[in-house]
Amino acid sequence: MALPSRFLEELRDKVPLSTVIGRKVKLTRRGHEYTGLCPFHHEKTASFTINDEKGFYHCFGCGAHGDIIKYLMDAEKMPFMEAVEHLAELAGIKIPEMSQKQKEQEKKRGDLTTIMEEACLFFQAQLFGLAGERGKKYLIRRGISGQIAKQFRLGYATSGSALTAHLQSKGFDIKECLNLGLIVKNPKTGQYHDYFYDRVIFPILDRRKHVIGFGGRMMEKGEPKYLNSPETTLFHKGEQLYALPNAIEAIRHKNEAILVEGYMDVIALHSAGFTNAVAPLGTALTEQQIKILWQSCDEPLICFDGDGAGRKAAIRAMNRALPILTPGKSLRFVFLPDPFDPDDMIRKKSPEAFAQLVKEARSFSDVLWDTLISSHIIDTPERIAKFEKDIQDTINLIQNNTVRLYYQKDFKNRLWKLTHAYRKKHISLNQNRSYQIHSPTPGLAHARMLLAYAIYYPNIIASFLEDLAHMTLPDHILNDALQKIVLRILDFPDIDATTLEKNISSEVLRMLSAEFEMLKKSSKTDNEISYEIKCILQQSKKQLIQTEIDNKIQTYTKNPTPEIWENIKALKKEIEKLSESE
Ligand code: UTP
Ligand code: MN
Repeated sequence: MALPSRFLEELRDKVPLSTVIGRKVKLTRRGHEYTGLCPFHHEKTASFTINDEKGFYHCFGCGAHGDIIKYLMDAEKMPFMEAVEHLAELAGIKIPEMSQKQKEQEKKRGDLTTIMEEACLFFQAQLFGLAGERGKKYLIRRGISGQIAKQFRLGYATSGSALTAHLQSKGFDIKECLNLGLIVKNPKTGQYHDYFYDRVIFPILDRRKHVIGFGGRMMEKGEPKYLNSPETTLFHKGEQLYALPNAIEAIRHKNEAILVEGYMDVIALHSAGFTNAVAPLGTALTEQQIKILWQSCDEPLICFDGDGAGRKAAIRAMNRALPILTPGKSLRFVFLPDPFDPDDMIRKKSPEAFAQLVKEARSFSDVLWDTLISSHIIDTPERIAKFEKDIQDTINLIQNNTVRLYYQKDFKNRLWKLTHAYRKKHISLNQNRSYQIHSPTPGLAHARMLLAYAIYYPNIIASFLEDLAHMTLPDHILNDALQKIVLRILDFPDIDATTLEKNISSEVLRMLSAEFEMLKKSSKTDNEISYEIKCILQQSKKQLIQTEIDNKIQTYTKNPTPEIWENIKALKKEIEKLSESE
């Protein structure tokens, strides 16, 4: 809804910033200003200031800056409209008139919520009246106290058409009751009867605590176990979360939400003190629902059932969230033992056992990585390559550039560590072979450059370890240094230049001083450096093959057999191939 800017100014004028911030932050008056500990970053001495006259706060520590609305949105995690409503209430002024069309829509919505409210009250009254005996017994059996039943406004729907009769007696329009999914018309008899019957009722409330739908649980075995209100003008399942109004304060306060699968899970958790629990409404988690949670906390916990279905649902939630991750906003995952759901955990184990699992919640990136690994076998170069490609494809789904970049870095490291054992086995095998006849040998200038690169850019050189391990440098001091570097990077793939340099003798560093000087001055990109290293390596390989060709030709001139000639041809082809790939 568009608000006139005059109105927002009036709000800012009428409500002193210091009174709102003073609710959470201890403020000291200093002249025209107030100071206190900044609510946006951790600090021991006050660098947060408030100027009521200007209507701004500013933190000299972290740079946080804004007006009263921004404060409520950032510090108290209120959506814009809620902040405005809150301030209007404090200021004792009305939010300005809406357009005629908006008014009509609001009125219509108001009429509909009145009907829903009436139905809710009716179900509640039934539960606590004579008709509700069965429902009450059921709830007691499930360990739900009267207090919790009231808090969640639980109710009971009897068999027959009690609600239909009640709503009609109150004079509500039957058509609207039909549209709201409270009443159904029997197509054969043309008679109206209740949509919910013989079920325990869980009302679904929106953020403003208006009843917008219901879920009803059957008390015996049968299908469907839960019946939910159909989609209506008021009720859009994908845009709501069960128990959000009950949980919102705790979610903001703890900066954490626990998202579970079912109504009963939410209620069991709230009863056990986990008052930040909410649930989707019987459908898969939607992008909107994730975004709703992100308005009030940074990393909501996904805590679905411990069975196969629950795990699949968690992966689906992950795929939903992946494209919309933004800096600071993610999900975390709590895994329950199979086949427990959170309700079982609380009642059959203990709230402490559940709290422990919450503590062990796993990060989005860990779970994503595990999911990727579990669908791959990583034992040959082709399979590693396929794995790497699938990782790339998955990460590319992340729309936010920064988050995507960090995922790329993180997963590159993980892949490196994972294939480390494989690579190490492979490389040492080659090193130990007793029949190592020739290895590529670069010229001294190239050898020095290569080593300087290795020390200066361990992250780049890391992609060439295999080649370097097979290489012999023409100077034994340099050669020893190279082998040492290869092993170090194998053991510590994340090693940085400074740390690596500490492992290199001063003699070698001195020998390379001219190269280091050059590198310091150069402004080459990683790609350019990578390309140069590749060129040096290729050239050494070509030289090695060329030496072999020369030897073979000498042999051939003495003893011209067709085999040797074939050999020479094959080697020439290899050189050509190397040149082509440059
Ligand atoms: P569950 O089958 O896991 O039920 O469904 P639950 O929450 O453990 O319930 P209890 O403990 O058996 O009473 C999880 C959620 O899926 C939706 C409901 O929202 C339910 O809370 N659901 C389930 C339906 O909408 N319809 C169904 O028939 C079953
Ligand atoms: Mn359950």
